[in-house]
Amino acid sequence: MPQTTPDSHDIHEYIAHLFAQEDEILRWVRESLIEQGLPDVAITPEEGAFLSLLVRLCRAHHVLEIGTLAGYSTLWIARALPPDGIVVTIEKSARHAALARQNFERAGLAGQILLLEGEAKRLLSKAARWGPFDFVFIDADKEGYPYYYDCALNLVPSGGVIAFHNALWGGSVALPFHGPVIDAIRDFNRMVANDPRVVAHLYPAGDGTLIAVKR
Ligand SMILES: C[S@@+](CC[C@H](N)C(=O)[O-])C[C@H]1O[C@@H](n2cnc3c(N)ncnc32)[C@H](O)[C@@H]1O
Repeated sequence: MPQTTPDSHDIHEYIAHLFAQEDEILRWVRESLIEQGLPDVAITPEEGAFLSLLVRLCRAHHVLEIGTLAGYSTLWIARALPPDGIVVTIEKSARHAALARQNFERAGLAGQILLLEGEAKRLLSKAARWGPFDFVFIDADKEGYPYYYDCALNLVPSGGVIAFHNALWGGSVALPFHGPVIDAIRDFNRMVANDPRVVAHLYPAGDGTLIAVKR
């Protein structure tokens, strides 16, 4: 038995170092947020690597994303696709969308990524033209998750995967805290856990990835 027990930071560093190294482009995308004075609320490299693994496991070809920001998660996903695979990503902020487009060009993946600019609730029916989607990643306003989930269930076939970011909200969902976002996420997690239409699991990658596979 080891003499010392690693803490969660050591474990996180060990996994990230081995399996979730950012290359120059991904680092540049993250830095582009800071340079533009935008909050770095992109997924972590570990969650990026985990999403990439999920996309490959389900042999996704068509992916839908809600919540692009600077395109960090979009690039992790797009890189996991076959050369003719596509990501349709929805972003409501014109500023974020402009930055993401630059980043997609710079990453050499603009040809595989279609960015729809505007409110997700308005654009989901337009996005459906590129469906059905094998994989959907949702990382936008948390109160909208139930609506996005219902839409996504109609856009994936049986066996399709829907993943949500921030399912742990910094761990506060597991503690007796209350607030509009914490309560919305907690209610949403409970609803998906009990939804007979899917098989679901909450995996603690990054800030928690809730994964639902449509039956
Ligand atoms: C947490 S960030 C996404 C981070 C990104 N997935 C990543 O990891 O690189 C959330 C993004 O969703 C966008 N967003 C929030 N609500 C939205 C909505 N209702 N429709 C479309 N985009 C939305 C925000 O403008 C923001 O850029």
